[in-house]
Formats: sequence, C-alpha cells, structure tokens
Amino acid sequence: MFRCWETTAGKIPNKHMMQTSKPVSVSYTTMTEMVFPNDTNGLNGLMGGRLLYWMDIVAAITAQKHANAFVVTASVDNVSFSQPIKIGNVVTLKAKITRAFNSSMEVHIEVVAEDVPNRKVVESHRAFFTMVAVDLEGNKIRVPELVPETAEEKSLYESALRRRQLRLVLAGRMKPEDAHELKSIFDIKSK
Ligand SMILES: CC(C)(COP(=O)(O)OP(=O)(O)OC[C@H]1O[C@@H](n2cnc3c(N)ncnc32)[C@H](O)[C@@H]1OP(=O)(O)O)[C@@H](O)C(=O)NCCC(=O)NCCS
Repeated sequence: MFRCWETTAGKIPNKHMMQTSKPVSVSYTTMTEMVFPNDTNGLNGLMGGRLLYWMDIVAAITAQKHANAFVVTASVDNVSFSQPIKIGNVVTLKAKITRAFNSSMEVHIEVVAEDVPNRKVVESHRAFFTMVAVDLEGNKIRVPELVPETAEEKSLYESALRRRQLRLVLAGRMKPEDAHELKSIFDIKSK
C-alpha cells in the first residue's frame, strides 16, 4: 500500500513534498573523505567495505533529497574495485538519481580518488544503488518522477529500466519473460 501525497505532506510540511517531478540537479550530491589508517587493509589500501559504507551514505542522502523521505537500501549492483585507493588519498563520491520508479530510485555513484600532493586523479569505481522511500512505519512511499535534462542524464534514464529488470529478475522478483526491455537488447524472442 502506498501512502498518499497528502498524508505524508501533512506530517512533514516541505515545499518540495508536493512536487510530482524533479530534475536531477535537485538531489545531486558530492561527498569527500580522506583515507586514514583506520580505513585501510594491511597494504595501506582503502578497505572495500569502508568504500561501500561511504557509497551507501551518499546514495541515501541523494535519494532522501529526491524523495524528501527516509530511504532504505534495497540493492547494490555488482561493484568492482578496479584501482586500489591509497592511504592519504582524497576520495570524492558523486551521486545522482538516474530514474525514479514507484517507491524506488536508482542512484548512480562515481568515485574519484585523488593523490593531491602528486596531482594524480584516479576514477576508481562506479556503482548503482537502489533505494526505497519509506515512512516512519516502514511503509513504502511514492516518490516524484525524475526529469532528465542533459544527454547523459537521458541516456542513464533510458538504460535504468533494463538495469531494474535485470536486478529484479536476479532477485527472483520478476519473471524473465516479463522483462521486455531487457530481452530486447539480447534479441530474445518471447515464446
Ligand atoms: C526494500 C524493501 C523496502 C522492499 O519492500 P517489499 O515489501 O519487498 O516491497 P516491494 O516488493 O513492493 O518492493 C518495493 C520497491 O522496492 C524494489 N525492490 C525490492 N527488492 C529489490 C531488489 N532486490 N532490487 C531492486 N529493487 C528492489 C521494488 O522493485 C519496488 O520498487 P517500486 O516501488 O519502485 O516499483 C524491503 O525489502 C526492506 O525493507 N528491506 C530491508 C532494507 C534495509 O534494511 N536495507 C539496509 C540493509 S542493512
């Protein structure tokens, strides 16, 4: 059961609450951290779990800004750690909503690690998080639609539907035969 706009807006007065659509820029979030010894493994590299923790926080902030509601993490897509991030590096996480569905939002996170004294910048990781808006009782809440504006935002918006179908099929929440947009990229014919 979705809570209606009026009920939620009544509890939490906010000028964004009644908006039924929002551009990406309203919730775009960056977060910067420095890698300290307590964040590292025995090789002085950032622990993957610490990066996932930061990613989860920035995803939650971004989704909260879009939904003006509490959010929970529903899923994290295959994160791969392509480049090690070293102690002392400055890590910037840039997060944006790529598409909002009913109660869920896909958040794209880009991670850039910087060795500031040596002027070295490494674009190290990317990931998609799915966040679901909920009220204080844990009931899911309908979120505003996302309005993509730039070419990149439009491209991420288009492909988000296929990524959603893939993760729901893998989670056993959607039948493969119902994943029409996903099937179309593999040219799989329905029986
Ligand atoms: C995520 C959660 C709210 C889904 O609740 P649910 O009762 O199963 O609700 P539904 O099946 O109706 O799914 C609600 C939304 O979540 C999405 N969703 C559910 N499971 C998902 C998954 N594995 N991957 C991506 N999206 C998922 C659904 O697609 C749906 O999106 P929509 O409303 O935009 O169409 C619920 O499973 C939950 O609270 N999980 C725990 C979250 C949490 O504690 N996270 C931190 C982990 S430590």
